[in-house]
Order: sequence, then structure tokens, then C-alpha cells
Amino acid sequence: MSLIISGGTVVTAEGQFQADVRVDGGQIAAVGRGLAQAGDEVIDADGKHILPGGIDVHTHLSMPSMGTVTCDDYYTGQVAAVMGGTTTHLDFCIQPKGSSLKAALDTWHGRARGQAVIDYGFHVAVTDPLPEVLDEIATLPDQGVTSIKLFLAYKDTLQVDDTALFRCLERARDAGVLTLVHAENGDAIEVLMAEAVARGETAPKYHALTRPPELEAEATGRAVALAEVLGAPLYIVHLSCRPALVRVREAQARGARVTAETCTQYFFFTKDDLDRPGFEGAKWVCSPPPREKEDQQALWAAVADGTLSVISTDHCPFRFDSQKTLGRDDFTLIPNGVPGIEERLMVLHQAGVRGGHFSLERFVALTATNPARSFGLGGVKGSVAPGYDADLALWNLARPHMITAATNHSAVDYSLYEGMAVQGRPVTVLIRGQTVMHEGRLLAERGSGQFLHRQRI
Ligand code: URP
Ligand code: ZN
Ligand code: ZN
Ligand code: ZN
Repeated sequence: MSLIISGGTVVTAEGQFQADVRVDGGQIAAVGRGLAQAGDEVIDADGKHILPGGIDVHTHLSMPSMGTVTCDDYYTGQVAAVMGGTTTHLDFCIQPKGSSLKAALDTWHGRARGQAVIDYGFHVAVTDPLPEVLDEIATLPDQGVTSIKLFLAYKDTLQVDDTALFRCLERARDAGVLTLVHAENGDAIEVLMAEAVARGETAPKYHALTRPPELEAEATGRAVALAEVLGAPLYIVHLSCRPALVRVREAQARGARVTAETCTQYFFFTKDDLDRPGFEGAKWVCSPPPREKEDQQALWAAVADGTLSVISTDHCPFRFDSQKTLGRDDFTLIPNGVPGIEERLMVLHQAGVRGGHFSLERFVALTATNPARSFGLGGVKGSVAPGYDADLALWNLARPHMITAATNHSAVDYSLYEGMAVQGRPVTVLIRGQTVMHEGRLLAERGSGQFLHRQRI
């Protein structure tokens, strides 16, 4: 028996059209008119838009950081994701210093196993580039991991130097692994932070003021140059500002293998949000920080023209009541990161599509199709076409919804988008043909999400 999703409007990166979707064995078997046959199970999608489930390639669930741990585990974080129409995410497995990459991956697998409700994969962040760790990069694809991440910021904890960056880019290139870079100059930032604290500048807004855009642009340009010398593929994460965009555009114009993402929050907020009264600005403390209005405009243009090909969340949730407060007297101790895994698609549909920055097709490309293609999931995830997994989000584009932490599903106690009215939300979500969410009810079983063995880049 097949499942037929009938009467909806299918949306892909290339176009939208009226069609039924036939699902067999968890995969899309056909997309076309009049596919229903006697005996088929039917989901009526009249008036709905059928989008590929969202793919969020940048999340931090159950991640130890700055003396605490992100408050969403694989269950709460993934429930929040699926409620917002996201069916796959790629999470960062962080190598503890001295550990092997294999041991780090084992730890992360243990956290996800039995908890997952959506499909997931791991990037592995190399923080201690020991010779034997560099050798391990070649073994990652056999473990289904085809991306590594290097931090050029967070001095003395996660940051690596240029030797490590260069060596990793080279090893990754040879192994068919994509190198992701957090591009900010951590050495200069460390000096600026120490000077600010010495002057008594301890409020959250100084987080933004000690991480100027030029230091993001410098690190972006440096990573691009090293990758270009090697002919290695490079992906810049959470790009936030105009001067960094210039570096990426120039590299792409030269034909370098450079792609980049931005994250939802950078379209909506500025550094002024870190100056909200009381300590509330701490809710917006993330790295890089939100920038200026002019940067927002530049990012909208860049996702429309293709300079940026992916919009992810960098979902890295810390509770305001008990975790952000670690930095009440000193902004350098505020855990860095913001939540957004549930809101991403709804607020981007609202501001991006309804707001006239890009089409519904481009929205699908930026939030599902391109992320899948960039990370070794092409042909499997991220489109509504025969052969793909039947990961589908049925959207009612007329449905009003108000974003509020009170009805969100994350374990975090605030939303950056609190009170924002949107029109359009996913009402039914399927993963590999199973209905996992309907009208805000979770139908997935804990543990039903699968680890994704990704293809080489
Ligand atoms: O502030 C942030 N972005 N925290 C998460 C870790 C990272 O840098 O991506
Ligand atoms: Zn109907
Ligand atoms: Zn980062
Ligand atoms: Zn991140």
C-alpha cells in the first residue's frame, strides 16, 4: 500500500506546481497528477503547500560550553525543530582536548541514540590538532561524517592557529571532507575584551563592541586565502556582516571553492538589542554578534543573489534565568549562543518571502535543498522529487501564528522573536513517510530519528 499526499502545491527550489506525491517505503516514488489508486492511504493536502522538510546544518544540542551545557538535548531540541517544519539537522560534535575524533563522535552518538525524533548527522570540530588527529580526518567519511569545523575564535578553548587550519584544510580536501570555519580573529578579540573589562565595561553590549566586523572579515579572508592556496573546499559559518561578504564574493568571483551561510538572527536584530535594559541584552549574546541595519540589508541581498547559499540557525540555547546569568557582572562570562531551531522557517517565510526579499522557491533552496547538497545529502534529502526521502512539511501559508516562548517546545525560556506575528506555518510533517507532527501534536516516537551517513563532498 502506498501513501498519497493529494491535491497540494509542491514547492521545490526550481518551481511550484499542483501535484500528488506518492510515497513507497519511506521514499518519494512519484510526483504528478492523479496518482491515487484504490486502496492507497491518502493525506488530503488541499490548500496546502508541500515543501521538503527543513534542513538546519548548524546546531548545538547538549553541548558543553563556558562552564555549562546547552539546555536542549537531542529530544527537546529536535521536538522544537519538527514543530517548526525542520526534519534534518547537523550538529557539532566537539573534540575535547586530548581526545580522538572517534571518541568524541562516540560521545555524541551516545547523546543522540534513543532520543532522536528527526534525522541527524554530525560535523566534528577539531580543537586539538594532534598528529594522530590529523590522520583521523581521512577516516571520517567511513563513519558518515564528511565535514569538520575549525574555530578561529574562542582563544584558549576552541581556537586553532593557522598551522592547524592549513593542515586540516589539506587533509580534508584529500578525504572528500568539507572544512567549516568560524571566522573571527580570536586573538584580537581577546585583547579587546580584556581592555573593556579593565575599563569596567561589563554589560552585554560590550560583547558586540569587542567583536567588530573587521575582525570577522579578516578571519574570513585569511581562511579563504589558505583554502584557495590548497584548492580546498571551504564553508564559512554564520557570516554576519558586509566586509566578510565582500571577502566571500571576491573569492567566488575568482572561482574559489568557497560557500557560506548566514543565520536567521542576523536578519532581525542589531547590536542595539544587546543594549536592552537590565540584563536582557544577554539573550542576544552570540558570536559573531548581531550587527547593523545596513548589514541586514546586505544579507537579504546576498541570500537572494546566491553569495550566501544556506540559512541555518546556530541554535545554541542557554536559559536566561539560570545560564545567561553566569555573566551578569562580566559579559565575557555570558554563554555565547541564541535559540532559533523552531522559529527559523516561520520567521524567514514571514520576513523573507512575505516581506519580498525572495521567492518561496528560493526559501526552499536556502533552507533545505542547498544545505542538503552542500553537506553530502544530495539526492536523499532536501527536495520533493522521486528517489528522495519522503521528508515533507505541509504548510498552510494563510495560517496566523504568534511566536512566543510560552508555546515553543525548546527547553529554553525565551524567544528572540517573542510576540512576532507570522502568517504561514507547517501543519503536518512527515519523515521518511511517517507523520511525525500534525497540528502541533508530536506523533514521532522517541528514538525514531536516524543518524545520516553522508556522502563525500
Ligand atoms: O555564539 C555562538 N555562535 N555560539 C555557538 C558556537 C559557535 O560559535 O557557533
Ligand atoms: Zn482534496
Ligand atoms: Zn561559531
Ligand atoms: Zn555554532
